[in-house]
Parts: sequence; structure tokens; C-alpha cells
Amino acid sequence: MEVVKQGFEYKVYQDAQELSLEDRTLMDSAVEQLPKAYAPYSGFHVGAAVRLADDSIFVGSNQENASYPLCMCGERVALYNAAANKPDVAPITLAITIKNQKLKITTPASPCGACRQVIAEYAQRHNQPIRILLKADSDEIFEINSIEDLLPLGFNASFL
Ligand code: THU
Repeated sequence: MEVVKQGFEYKVYQDAQELSLEDRTLMDSAVEQLPKAYAPYSGFHVGAAVRLADDSIFVGSNQENASYPLCMCGERVALYNAAANKPDVAPITLAITIKNQKLKITTPASPCGACRQVIAEYAQRHNQPIRILLKADSDEIFEINSIEDLLPLGFNASFL
């Protein structure tokens, strides 16, 4: 028997000013999406923006439905928007931010399990790690090097 230990490191920035201009612009694009979210049921807004290898940016926000299971996360809207428009260009960085209409959340929220699976799919599709920037209702920003850090031992096309 062998015990395998797996862990990861991520960066915490106190302020967006510490980011590169590219990353700051991307997070600004995600923040701009927050008021456009359609979240009348949860009151939880998610804005996302993805930068592709050609430096284009695609955005999205969560879209809810009275039939709750049909709700779509903001990260996936952004990634599907990018993939539908530029299927051959790899996503490089995904910025995600949240705003809870009912309470102030200061710790960045990381993507749900379904979104992790979808992000990992695009990383594998393009053989390109996807970096993730996270922000909540404070200046603090988390930077995660690769979706693989958030989805270790993930299921992927290599099993099929
Ligand atoms: N949501 C996202 O947009 N991304 C996530 O990673 C988690 C949850 C949305 C779905 C729903 O509209 C609301 O947040 C509450 O779950």
C-alpha cells in the first residue's frame, strides 16, 4: 500500500493593483457582468470573463430558471460563449467574481464541481492549462495556476 499525497499552492493578492494589467482587465470584465446576471431566485450573481490565446475576451453571467435544475453557472456561460465563437482558440485565464445580494461575501468563491469539470474539458481539448482568478466582494483575489489543482484525479476523455 502506498499513500499518495497531493496538494496545491495558490496566490492571494490583497488588491487588483498587484495583478498584471491583462489580469486586471480580465477581472474588470468579470465584475462588469455582475449586474447582468439573471438570478432572481438565489440573488447570487456570478460574473465571468475568459481570456483566450489570441487575447480576445468572452464574458458570461449566471442564468437562472424557475425550473431550478436548469440554472446555468456564469463560468460555463463565459466558456461556452468563447467556445461557440472561437472553437479553435485555447482559453488561458478565467476570471470569476461573485456578489450575493443578501449578504457581503468577502472570501472568493471557487467554481462548483460541474464548472470544474467543464473547465477541465477545455483545458484538455486545447492541451493548455487554464489559470483561474477569483474575487468576491472585497479587494482580495486568489490565483489558481491550473484547473487541475481544483479537480485532481478528474474524469476525462482519456478514459473513453
Ligand atoms: N453559480 C455559478 O454561477 N457558478 C458556480 O460555480 C456556483 C453557482 C450560480 C448558479 C446559481 O444561479 C447561483 O449561483 C446559486 O447557486
